[in-house]
Amino acid sequence: MTGPLDALTAAAGSGGGVTELEHGLRLVTDPTETERLLASKDTSTVRSARRTGITSWGPNGLDTWMAVRRAMRPFLTASRLTPAISVIAEQAERAVSAWPSPGVVDAGDATVSLISAVNTRHLLGETSEALSALVERELVLAGRTRWPLGRRRLRHAQRATYNAIRQHILTHPSPAGLRAVLTDHGFSEHTVTLTLRTMLLSSHHVPATALAWALHELSTHPDVQERARAEATAHPDPTADLPLCRAVIRETLRLHPPVWQLRRQLTAPTRGLPTGTTLLFSPYLNQHDPDAYPEPSRFHPQRWSPGFHPAPGSYLPFALGPRTCPASQLALTQLTVVLAAVLKNRHLTPHRDPAPTFGTLHAPRHLRLRVLPA
Ligand code: HEM
Repeated sequence: MTGPLDALTAAAGSGGGVTELEHGLRLVTDPTETERLLASKDTSTVRSARRTGITSWGPNGLDTWMAVRRAMRPFLTASRLTPAISVIAEQAERAVSAWPSPGVVDAGDATVSLISAVNTRHLLGETSEALSALVERELVLAGRTRWPLGRRRLRHAQRATYNAIRQHILTHPSPAGLRAVLTDHGFSEHTVTLTLRTMLLSSHHVPATALAWALHELSTHPDVQERARAEATAHPDPTADLPLCRAVIRETLRLHPPVWQLRRQLTAPTRGLPTGTTLLFSPYLNQHDPDAYPEPSRFHPQRWSPGFHPAPGSYLPFALGPRTCPASQLALTQLTVVLAAVLKNRHLTPHRDPAPTFGTLHAPRHLRLRVLPA
């Protein structure tokens, strides 16, 4: 364990489910309270102070964003994804075939470039290495805004991403992917550009981190890896149901939720807490609760057998409530398809153990995998 997680674990242990960390800040770990408070219409996300003119959604920004969320819903739901799955699988196979074999891959770099290619193609209708590089730069700089120079660089990077997306729109008169959906709903070009930027940023490091953790777990659990590979190779059709591969992803997101903590603010008095209270939730802590998951630290995909439903408030890798991840179904489907593509093509063994981080993301820093032909 590392600092921030140790501190939260200790606080949660002394608290009893809803713990006052400091005046106006509560840590919520009780699953029932988590479900109620996180899903309440009276919790709002704490806005990032890093927004600048070009990334502003305007005076009615939240209403616009919630309308965009509603419009995107069909594009992101499992039943509508089937036609896109073959494209996702093909894109993943192309990326994996570039991995040295035999060789060693840096799991962080390899998964970011794979997932970014898959998502850029899904969202815009084509891959763009230049745009992926801009998204990567913006996210890296967003993590380093403590100094004025850092903030200035971030503003430049935000403008560069925004302008590159606008340029893409101008040079591709026929909209494809998510852009086509948003254009059909009559959203302005600025809103379409901002939405594509938000979706590209959100679909870059977070799902890539989940994939890196999944590959780490499979490299250290060769028995599960072999069974998942057998399942994937027995079903050449990428749209086939792959229950074990899907369980590997679900279990990875339980054991290693990339978004390991969430903040919300109360906009009305709720359950005895005053307006303005900041609530801190930790998917990591709730998902390691031994009452919900026997042997919680064990990687055990088999626990996701048909009929297993985690208790309310005990599984929240995508958050819960009005600001839950709008792409959770896309992410689960996509990661399952990508995992199957990796396993069909490559065999994974450990090379360098990860140093788990608990910063903005819970990520497997320094993870290296030895890769062999499957
Ligand atoms: C394993 C993959 C993913 C995980 C674990 C994940 C998790 C999350 C979580 C926990 C949040 C809430 C964050 C907060 O409230 O602080 C969130 C929000 C969001 N996610 Fe995801 N996500 C994943 C993949 C994706 C993908 C692939 C996309 C886009 C294609 C996406 C788009 C978004 C957006 C736009 C939001 C902001 C929603 C809002 O504020 O209303 N996510 N995600």
